[in-house]
Amino acid sequence: MATSSSSSSMVLLMVTYLLVVSIGNSNAQLTTNFYSSSCPNLDSTIKSVVQSAIRKEARMGASLLRLFFHDCFVNGCDGSLLLDDTSSFTGEKMAIPNNGSVRGFEVIDQIKSAVEKACPGIVSCADILAITARDSVVTLGGPSWDVKLGRRDARTASKTAADNNIPQPTFSLSALINSFQNQGLSTTDMVALSGGHTIGQARCTSFRTRIYNESNIDATFAKTRQANCPSTNNTGDNNLAPLDLQTPASFDNNYYKNLVNQKGLLHSDQQLFSGGSTNALVQTYGSNPTRFTSDFVAAIIKMGDIKPLTGSNGEIRKNCRRTN
Ligand code: HEM
Ligand SMILES: *[C@@H]1O[C@H](CO)[C@@H](O)[C@H](O)[C@H]1NC(C)=O
Ligand SMILES: *[C@@H]1O[C@H](CO)[C@@H](O)[C@H](O)[C@H]1NC(C)=O
Ligand SMILES: *[C@@H]1O[C@H](CO)[C@@H](O)[C@H](O)[C@H]1NC(C)=O
Repeated sequence: MATSSSSSSMVLLMVTYLLVVSIGNSNAQLTTNFYSSSCPNLDSTIKSVVQSAIRKEARMGASLLRLFFHDCFVNGCDGSLLLDDTSSFTGEKMAIPNNGSVRGFEVIDQIKSAVEKACPGIVSCADILAITARDSVVTLGGPSWDVKLGRRDARTASKTAADNNIPQPTFSLSALINSFQNQGLSTTDMVALSGGHTIGQARCTSFRTRIYNESNIDATFAKTRQANCPSTNNTGDNNLAPLDLQTPASFDNNYYKNLVNQKGLLHSDQQLFSGGSTNALVQTYGSNPTRFTSDFVAAIIKMGDIKPLTGSNGEIRKNCRRTN
């Protein structure tokens, strides 16, 4: 009798413990069904705006995917990138990797208005970026995945943190690996996520040194790019070239095939295939599109888990450009 009651109170203790642990965790964890009862039409609302933006301009899909990356790498996926400057802080839009380069904020505004109309005050801007990134990839022919949700929005932003945490096109392979490691992402995640450069465009200023001064570049490709990117600094800085010379509006594995042929546009791109530790993986992704898409999906879900604000932290912004 004594034994059975002590073992049942032991069971009770264990159950209570597990309950406390799981409640504690559920605060910090994102879930795919977070808005399923509070905003049942969220997915279709966002998808229709993304699709119409991409119908107007295919590049917008690339720009929207990049917003999610630049948000997550700066103090976590918290919508901080979307805040306009105020009198009390200079936001991330002015940071070196962002100023004159990131775009798509008007599309996020459009999405937010549509979402606010459907479910006022419910859905965070941080989550909108996560869903928008997925819909952009899908619309341009890439893989789909279930997006984890429940992030809340930051009340502040940091230009300095953006300058310090977003990797730059001048980075070496080891600097790229470090930059992703600092976010809890592996070298495999880094190589797979770099496949985001299978879509979109870069400015001459981002690749000038590479096309004039590097030796690990296909000579014909360099010549082609030089035609629209003068060697003189500050001349034609904003002239654009596709990151994937073959299919810049299609989410495929051509990015890796280009690298194997020394046709990476950015210095940082070609670093992934320049005789270092990531050569083999680049070759794998170039010849095995299924491997690429499954690793890309795993890595972008992991990226979306970077330091989310959950529970009662942060807020649900009414307008993605400013705090409430
Ligand atoms: C690995 C380190 C990375 C570096 C150094 C890097 C750097 C850059 C640079 C310099 C540009 C061109 C910007 C300009 O000239 O205006 C660019 C564009 C872009 N990046 Fe990255 N990036 C990296 C990783 C990523 C990741 C992880 C993603 C998403 C998964 C991504 C998505 C994009 C997209 C889609 C564009 C084109 C945007 C557009 O056309 O508007 N990048 N990146
Ligand atoms: C942002 O870019 C604009 C135009 O390219 C430039 O005039 C301005 O000085 C830049 N701001 C910062 C903070 O770098
Ligand atoms: C290429 O390198 C040379 C020598 O270091 C330098 O003078 C020149 O400015 C560089 N050109 C570009 C476009 O970076
Ligand atoms: C142009 O800018 C690049 C990068 O800042 C620098 O390495 C190069 O020397 C500059 N070239 C000239 C001609 O000033």
